[in-house]
Amino acid sequence: MKMPNMIDAKKRNNDKINYVNYNVSLDKFGEGKKFFVRTYGCQMNEHDSEKIKGMLKSVGYTECDSVDNADIVILNTCAIRENAHDKVFGFLGVLKHIKDTKNPGLLIGICGCMSQEKVVVDEILSKYKYVDFVCGTHNLDNLLNIIKDKIDNNTQQIEVLSYEGDVVEGVPVVRDSIYSAWVDIQYGCDKFCTYCIVPYTRGKQRSRTKESIIEEVKKLKKDGYKEVTLLGQNVNAYGKDLYNDYNLANLLSDVSDTGIERIRFVTSHPWDFTEKMVDIIASRDNIMPYIHLPLQSGSNKILKLMNRRYTKEEYLKLYNSIRSKVKNSSVTTDIIVGFPGETEEDFEDTIDVVKQVNFEQIFMFIYSRRVGTRADKMENQIPEEIKHKRFDRLKQVFEESVEENNKKYVGTTQKILVEGHSKNNQDMLTGRTDTNKVVIFEGPEELIGKIINIKIVSEHKWYLKGEV
Ligand code: SAH
Ligand code: SF4
Ligand code: F3S
Repeated sequence: MKMPNMIDAKKRNNDKINYVNYNVSLDKFGEGKKFFVRTYGCQMNEHDSEKIKGMLKSVGYTECDSVDNADIVILNTCAIRENAHDKVFGFLGVLKHIKDTKNPGLLIGICGCMSQEKVVVDEILSKYKYVDFVCGTHNLDNLLNIIKDKIDNNTQQIEVLSYEGDVVEGVPVVRDSIYSAWVDIQYGCDKFCTYCIVPYTRGKQRSRTKESIIEEVKKLKKDGYKEVTLLGQNVNAYGKDLYNDYNLANLLSDVSDTGIERIRFVTSHPWDFTEKMVDIIASRDNIMPYIHLPLQSGSNKILKLMNRRYTKEEYLKLYNSIRSKVKNSSVTTDIIVGFPGETEEDFEDTIDVVKQVNFEQIFMFIYSRRVGTRADKMENQIPEEIKHKRFDRLKQVFEESVEENNKKYVGTTQKILVEGHSKNNQDMLTGRTDTNKVVIFEGPEELIGKIINIKIVSEHKWYLKGEV
C-alpha cells in the first residue's frame, strides 16, 4: 500500500525528469471481460481515460456502455472542486448497490486526481472498503499490474505516489474520436495558484520532448486525423523545464509545419504568454484562432492573493493584442467568484473586465476550498450565499452579451469539422468553427470527419444553426 502525502506532493526539486517507455506486458487476463470507464474533470483527464481504455484493451478487455454489464468499472476522477468529489462518491453508492445485489465480482477502481488526495484515500479506507483499487496519477502506466494484484490476492490495492513524476511514452491509447485527437505536451503544474489543487495532484511541470510530440502529430495526420488539441495545465510554459531556447511558439510552428489541418491548445496562462506566441498563432492558418485565457478575477488585489502574477491591465493588454493580431479570433475564459477576501468592489472589477471584453464563453466557478492549498487557510472566506449571489450576477451580465456576440456569425460562412450527430437531436449533425463554436445543421452522414463550409443562419445562445 502506498498512500498520498500532501507535503511530498508540494515539494519541487531540480532532479532530472525521467523519460521512460511504457513496459508492462501481461497475459490477456481481461479476455472475455468488459470494462466501463467514467471520466470527470478536464481534457487531460479525458485523454488519460483514453490511455486507461488502451491499457485495458491490451489485456483483452472490451468496452461496454453500461455499468450493469461491466466486470470492471474505473472512475477517472477530478479534484478541482468539492462538487467533483460529491459526484464520485454518489456514483460509488450506485456501484455498491450493483455489487451487493447483482454482480459480487464487480471490480471498482479509482484513478485520477482524487486518488492523490489524502483526505479522499482516508475516506475510502474507512468507509468504502468495496473499492477494489486506487491508482494515482503518477503511476497510471502501472494500472494493469495493480488490477492484476487485486485479482490475484483479493486485497484492496492503494497505490498512490506523491512525487514529482516521470514522463512515460508509449502508453497504449484508444481514442474516442477518429478525427480529432488530444496530444499531451506537458504534465503537472508549478504555478501554485493559491486556490488550486492541481500542482499537488499532478506534480511538477514536465514537458514531453518536441520530437515525441511532433512524431505523434505526424502519425495522427497519417491516420487521417484532422485536428489535434495540445494539452497541458499551462501550455504557454511548455519547454521551460526541458529546453533553454525552445518554447510554445517554436512548438506551435513545428506542429503547424506537419500540415495537420487544425491545431488547438489548452490551457493558456497569461503569465507565460509572449508576443512571439501571438505572432505565430496569427501567422499560421492551421493554428486555430481560439484561445482559452483564464482571467480568474478582474481585481488586482485578488489576482495577487491568487498568485496569478498578472494584473487586470496586463490581462487586457494581452487580450487586445490577441484580438488585434489574430484575425477572427475568439477568447474564452475561466472566472472564480468568492475567493477569500473578495469584496463587492473586487467583484465589480471582474464585472468590469467582462463588460469590456468580448468573451466567447465564460466558465464560471464558485470558489471551493481545497484542503492543502494556501487559500484554504486564508481568512475572510466568503459566505456561501454571497458567492452564489455574485455567481448569478456574473452569469446575468455575461448572458446579456452572448446574443450580441453571436450575431456576428449570422450570415457568415464558417469552416467546421463535422464531429457527428448532435447529442440533443439525432437528425442533425454537429461540428465546431475555427473559433470552437458549436454549429448544428442538417446533412448526410458522409460529412462526418470532414471539414466543410457552412452558412450560419441563426444563433441560439449556446450554439449556432447552419446550412451546408
Ligand atoms: N491550468 C488552468 C486551469 C485548470 S483548472 C489555468 O491555470 O488556467 C480549471 C479552472 O477551474 C480554473 O481556471 C479555475 O477557474 C477553476 N478552479 C480551480 N480551482 C478552483 C477552486 N478551488 N474553486 C473554484 N474553481 C477552481
Ligand atoms: Fe491550477 Fe494555476 Fe496550475 Fe492552472 S496554473 S493548474 S489554476 S495552479
Ligand atoms: Fe480535475 Fe485533475 Fe484535471 S483536478 S481539472 S482532473 S488535472
